[in-house]
Amino acid sequence: MKALILVGGLGTRLRPLTINTPKAMMPVLNKPFMAHVVDHLMGHGVDEVIFTRGHLAGQMERYFGENYRSCKVTFIDEEKPLGTAGGIKNCERFLDSTFFALNGDVFSTIDLSAMLAQHRSNNAVATIALTPVENPSAFGLVETEKDNQIRRFIEKPRAEEITTDLINAGCYILEPEIFGYIEPGKNTSIERETFQFLLTDHRPFYAFVDRNSYWIDMGNCEKYFQFNMDMLNGRCQCPLTPPAGTSIGDGTFVDPSAVFAGNVMVGRGCSIGPGVRIEGPVIIGDRCAVGNNTVLRNSIVWENVEFSPDDVVTGSIIAGRSRLGGQNRISDSTLADGVYTPSDYSLSGSQIWPGTALSN
Ligand code: GDD
Ligand code: MG
Repeated sequence: MKALILVGGLGTRLRPLTINTPKAMMPVLNKPFMAHVVDHLMGHGVDEVIFTRGHLAGQMERYFGENYRSCKVTFIDEEKPLGTAGGIKNCERFLDSTFFALNGDVFSTIDLSAMLAQHRSNNAVATIALTPVENPSAFGLVETEKDNQIRRFIEKPRAEEITTDLINAGCYILEPEIFGYIEPGKNTSIERETFQFLLTDHRPFYAFVDRNSYWIDMGNCEKYFQFNMDMLNGRCQCPLTPPAGTSIGDGTFVDPSAVFAGNVMVGRGCSIGPGVRIEGPVIIGDRCAVGNNTVLRNSIVWENVEFSPDDVVTGSIIAGRSRLGGQNRISDSTLADGVYTPSDYSLSGSQIWPGTALSN
């Protein structure tokens, strides 16, 4: 079965991390976000994934190639943004039977096999997975009938329109009939247009309600941080979820005087120096060097990052190839890729753009 994944967005709300790294390639437990999504799809019988080619797609193409594990991978150009429906319509020639369609910024452990079985038994044209959230206002609210037929779909509901906690999880099963409801070559929205047309035409359009699975829209830095920590702390299980405590990648050197507490994942080929203290939850990418007496707490570190002696980093994200100059105090901050700090430097609640060389 094929899955189409919409990866058209610029990841604006994840800046500065997404200036040089597409959202899909941001590391989660040291593996690209999108690889977790595709692994989950493959666990439910997906053997071909079609990506719309978005922002910095070259990095995705280099990672996934033409085949990812046993899954065929295709990238489709979208010269100008076509919206969520237009992006799907643009892939029509590749989709001639029932397919999954996913928003590219969502990860969930929804039971897609059960969803497909329900879709088939309903003879549905479209089935939407629904997940509960505290505040549906930033999502697509979905009202259903008792038999799970969709009654109303309200994208970004106003406060007075909120009648349920169930929202569109950004995961659909669609029949090729859907293409007849989308105008070609135009920017159109599946949420605001296509789904409304299905309702007007009284087509078999159902919800698959899943209140128990893990679900997250990795739309901003806070959610990105939370998703990593949920994975690390076992609140969301995936094949990579490490056992509780410390896990150290191959070829990583750890000085015997280094101390680890809580859940910590260290990548491959790292060096953890004497007197280092790592207080989880902390994820450290491959080939990082953590200098003597550095303290890392509640943070995410990407690949090839260097900490000089006596740095203290708390509640922060340090992206790839950054280098901290020693005796730094960094808290609640996001440093994009390739940021340099001088020695004896402090930052709190800051967002630093890629390639910035900070000075005292
Ligand atoms: N190919 C393509 N072209 N993809 C696009 C385009 C486009 O022009 N515009 C958006 N996308 C992709 C985004 O990259 C993202 O993966 C997905 O479509 C949804 O767009 P968002 O901009 O993230 O929408 P949202 O989060 O506000 O709302 C959507 O997702 C919610 C669940 O997270 C809606 O589908 C809501 O109904 C839903 O509840
Ligand atoms: Mg989104």
